[in-house]
Amino acid sequence: MNYVSSRLLPVKPSASAAVSQAARAARARGEDIIDLGLGEPDFDTPMHIIEAAYQAAKEGQTRYTPNDGTLALKTAIAAKFLRDNNLQYDLSEIMACNGAKQVIFDALMASLEPDDEVLLCAPYFGQYKDIALILGGVPKAIACSAESGFKLTPQALEAAITDKTRWLFLNLPSNPAGAVFNRQDLQALGEVLDRHPDVLILSDEIYEHILFDDREFLSFAAVCPQLKSRTLTVNGVSKAYAMTGWRVGYCGGPQPLIKAMTTVQSQISSGVCSIAQAAAAAALDGPQDSVIQFCDAFESRRNLIVERIANIDGLTLDPPGGAFYAYIGCEAFIGATTPDGTRIEDDIAFTNYLLTEAGIASVPGSAYELSPFFRISTATSEDILSQAMDRLAECTTKLNRP
Ligand SMILES: Cc1ncc(COP(=O)(O)O)c(C=O)c1O
Repeated sequence: MNYVSSRLLPVKPSASAAVSQAARAARARGEDIIDLGLGEPDFDTPMHIIEAAYQAAKEGQTRYTPNDGTLALKTAIAAKFLRDNNLQYDLSEIMACNGAKQVIFDALMASLEPDDEVLLCAPYFGQYKDIALILGGVPKAIACSAESGFKLTPQALEAAITDKTRWLFLNLPSNPAGAVFNRQDLQALGEVLDRHPDVLILSDEIYEHILFDDREFLSFAAVCPQLKSRTLTVNGVSKAYAMTGWRVGYCGGPQPLIKAMTTVQSQISSGVCSIAQAAAAAALDGPQDSVIQFCDAFESRRNLIVERIANIDGLTLDPPGGAFYAYIGCEAFIGATTPDGTRIEDDIAFTNYLLTEAGIASVPGSAYELSPFFRISTATSEDILSQAMDRLAECTTKLNRP
């Protein structure tokens, strides 16, 4: 009996899922594992947001909501886009979804024809590829090297666009590399896209508030206003407000696309949980102090990691400009042998070595389609990060490099 649709066949278990599974198994055997694989803030949701949810439940906001979100949440989203991003969206151009992930799913479900190409900037958030594959699209990775700051260049974009290209995905700042585009970078990409009027742009700005060294956040549609009518600006409360479990993402974009996405969502899940929507509205409308505190903590951890990695021979890391990850180069260890004589063939083998020898769970670069690297998350305390760096320094000295 075959239970599974052929639609799911192209979706392979991800390398990051394999790492988490291996880390869980090692923990179950009693091993002391430092898990740096996590993609969620280690902070608690601020109390005023929790209070707003409690209040909403007590007031009876417990029924189905409109498929595209409550008026209160959509109004808060519109105000946020204007306040933070200088983007003016009508309420009919805004919708709320069950996380940014569902925004992306709804958008591709609503717009993709079979074999349409979706351009991804490698290294990229793995879900982009899987969602495109499930929906019959063709994800195409464009390698964005460490030398270019892991940023898409206009030349690489121009070379990748074909008459099958439906979407370009951008992630500002990026998971996993923390790449940040400046105004000129975005304008240069915009000039290429001006020449290709059939390409839609998805700008995933979920790490907007986790931006370091006093950088100013630039939203793609604000820098390239001529492209706003074919840009979907994606965001969510998961990362900025430590609200991963509440499942609220949102977007602003062209009305026909939002309308079609709302139809998709009405068939999948209807509107987001009413109480979570009230919480998200309170997050966007309320005091923003915690956003700044979280960002400061992530910046201090970023500094710690950058300093410690600089002192580990063979590893490379330019300071990430934002998000809460470090995408560390490990090329010097490819071809090295471990103390038991095993050859490290690739970054998957390298991260396996880190897990077995040092008890560090991390994600290999192959999960993001740019090797040889590994991603660690800084969503854990400086104490634990420091211990992880001690272990990393020690275990890499045991490798016999080629
Ligand atoms: C780049 C990026 N986009 C979207 C998401 C998903 O966010 P949400 O929790 O809103 O679904 C993540 C989560 O890791 C992410 O890293």
